[in-house]
Amino acid sequence: GDDELSDRIAAARAALGPRAVVLGHFYQRDEIVQHADFLGDSFQLANAAQTVPDAEAIVFCGVHFMAETADVLAKPGQTVILPNLAAGCSMADMADIDAVEDAWAQLTALYGDEPDADGRAPVIPVTYMNSAADLKAFCGRHGGIVCTSSNAETVLEWAFERGQRVLFFPDQHLGRNTAKKLGVPLDRMPLWNPRLTLGGSSAEDLRDARVILWHGFCSVHKRFTVGQIEQARAEHPGVRVIVHPECAMAVVDAADEAGSTDHIRKAVAAATEPTTFAIGTEINMVNRLAAEFPQHTIFCLDPVVCPCSTMYRIHPGYLAWVLEELVAGRVVNQVTVPDDVAADARVALERMLAAKP
Ligand code: 13P
Ligand code: SF4
Repeated sequence: GDDELSDRIAAARAALGPRAVVLGHFYQRDEIVQHADFLGDSFQLANAAQTVPDAEAIVFCGVHFMAETADVLAKPGQTVILPNLAAGCSMADMADIDAVEDAWAQLTALYGDEPDADGRAPVIPVTYMNSAADLKAFCGRHGGIVCTSSNAETVLEWAFERGQRVLFFPDQHLGRNTAKKLGVPLDRMPLWNPRLTLGGSSAEDLRDARVILWHGFCSVHKRFTVGQIEQARAEHPGVRVIVHPECAMAVVDAADEAGSTDHIRKAVAAATEPTTFAIGTEINMVNRLAAEFPQHTIFCLDPVVCPCSTMYRIHPGYLAWVLEELVAGRVVNQVTVPDDVAADARVALERMLAAKP
């Protein structure tokens, strides 16, 4: 049962001591979160992976791209373990290196490679953290950068200083919501559908573009609708609606605010008066907030359920197993990024870590 698994995890952790550190994303289930040394959003977890020098093993309770990022940022010799290697991310899978290289070839053929009078490159690639390591490496090689939902504005400003345009992948919604906030008009954000020539946009639109948005999305955050927000407002006068910027633009516009998982947490924690919150993000996190802050009324905007099915694949049975194997001197489910990919990915990640004020 759950208690037995919890005891096994605790016993293995005690046997390992500081040799292993467990990192957990906010979307992990409670049975995992209770064993995490550090809980955070994807930016904080990337930082955390850099600041645990004593651990031989970083056990990453999150999804594959996060574990890859930890491996890129970890010290040489540190091992990163993903308890279930099937914990991927459907959004990250919507952009792959071949499709991005192909888009890049088409765009650079259209734009040429001459900088403008201010020295800005024709186009700068920006990848959301939610992407494979080879896409981060692509950005590292081409003067680009990584962003997370907590620093997307800063990163986009960084890219606009260096580029006339930005190719943003894989999440169209984070790209659109952030660019809109920075004042980019919607008609200067053409979509890039990797299955179509020129991404399905016209050469003219691509020339006038400020941000070219890759056609990716999060299947969890896609579920939230303006109708749900209207219903929450009708049923709970005074409700504060906070959503994640992976939601569609109309949903972000209809909400009171939008931000990363850590932003949402902090907004709830900072409310001094009892408040009703309708939250548009993953259900495990929303339920945990509701339990943690009983003075507030906190519910998920989606009345059905919206777990992230891949985050959920980190079952405590897997955590117990990988830790017990470590105790026995064996490494299972290691995530490794090849050295050449890691070197370029690190360039793009370090630009992001430095761009954050
Ligand atoms: P953040 O933790 O950066 O808000 O990201 C949310 C998410 O979808 C991670 O997959
Ligand atoms: Fe990927 Fe969405 Fe799950 Fe985050 S919530 S891991 S973006 S599928």
